[in-house]
Amino acid sequence: MERFDAVIIGAGAAGMFCAAMAGQAGRRVLLLDNGKKPGRKILMSGGGRCNFTNLYVEPAAYLSQNRHFCKSALARYTQWDFIDLVGKHGIAWHEKTLGQLFCDDSAQQIVDMLVAECEKGGVTTRLRTEVLSVSRDDSGYRLELNGDTVSADKLVIASGGLSMPGLGATPFGYKIAEQFGLKVLPTRAGLVPFTLHKPLLEQLQTLSGVSVSSTITAEDGTLFRENLLFTHRGLSGPAVLQISSYWQPGEFVTVNLVPDCDLAAFLDEQRAAHPNQSLKNTLAMQLPKRLIECLQLLGQIPDVTLKQLNVRDQQALVETLTNWRVQPNGTEGYRTAEVTLGGVDTDELSSRTMEARKVPGLYFIGEVMDVTGWLGGYNFQWAWASAWACAQAL
Ligand code: FDA
Repeated sequence: MERFDAVIIGAGAAGMFCAAMAGQAGRRVLLLDNGKKPGRKILMSGGGRCNFTNLYVEPAAYLSQNRHFCKSALARYTQWDFIDLVGKHGIAWHEKTLGQLFCDDSAQQIVDMLVAECEKGGVTTRLRTEVLSVSRDDSGYRLELNGDTVSADKLVIASGGLSMPGLGATPFGYKIAEQFGLKVLPTRAGLVPFTLHKPLLEQLQTLSGVSVSSTITAEDGTLFRENLLFTHRGLSGPAVLQISSYWQPGEFVTVNLVPDCDLAAFLDEQRAAHPNQSLKNTLAMQLPKRLIECLQLLGQIPDVTLKQLNVRDQQALVETLTNWRVQPNGTEGYRTAEVTLGGVDTDELSSRTMEARKVPGLYFIGEVMDVTGWLGGYNFQWAWASAWACAQAL
């Protein structure tokens, strides 16, 4: 039976980086994955260009039952450390928006970089490998694989969350946590589009593909200012993906479709300057034409000139456009979600090493645990930072 210092299950972002760092520190590491390629989510990420980190990473950008847990790891391996590594590999990048850093060319470059770092650390990688069972005794961990059995002093679970089962996601990490008596918090899809109830969806069907700048607010007061996209299933776009992580079934979100102007003041100004201008054409200065046409059909925008618009109708219109309360029917679920909220309870883990407090030698890193970042490179930075913290302890 082959023996390693550490076996890492999951050759995704966290697992590959942890394997590379531990290998380079002299550990004998085996990295396992059930897929035929490593880093499948990395390849899909950022529209194929991988939004690998964010210039503005801070603990407040992460959801977790324990909001403090992520602080130590994020402070010890920062976005600047990862940017430095990317630079050493000659990967050109750019900031797209809001501090989000993307490869100029392809996400494949990030996977190639991680593979090269693993090779530098002498990591043994086995793909298409299923872990049939895991057991622990005084000498460490024993893993039955499809084919053979391996053992290790330490076991790192980097198998990710449940989002996108088509990319190899499984509940493996949660099952291992439960096997060893660790608490797993309920999971749900995050960074995911909303679906709408049929009547509202039918009213908005002509808007599919329309994108509009917005602010969106959850019932707990969390607010994002980004674009909202109408789709044939409901609502998407960065604003919606962000707020979905703060939304619970049954709750409302509030949307301002004209966040960049004081709409009432704008209408008053326009009325004073151009009283005979149509309301429709005035609103077209602030909103996409298709949205105005749709709201007209729904009777929300009267077919009048500005001087004909009475105070009550103006107030109602401003309310509709700046304080649109939507109750989503649900989300598109794990099929399209970028992340999984919840997971292995961080109270069970050391924030310094990611080791399970009551199970020596067992570690959890990346998305499998209850730490979830905003859209925009935050989740990869958590994968790198938690992996680095763990690697120091292996
Ligand atoms: P990850 O999911 O990367 O890796 C887990 C690995 O474990 C997989 O390779 C899987 O095959 C393997 N595995 C699972 N079960 C197993 C089992 N039973 N046996 C063996 N292996 C098993 N984030 C970001 O910061 N910027 C971005 O641009 C994007 N974009 C993006 C796009 C899309 C489409 C998705 C779905 C997600 C993103 N994300 C993102 C989120 C990001 O991809 C995610 O948070 C990280 O990949 C999490 O890294 P992990 O290593 O924890 O899991």
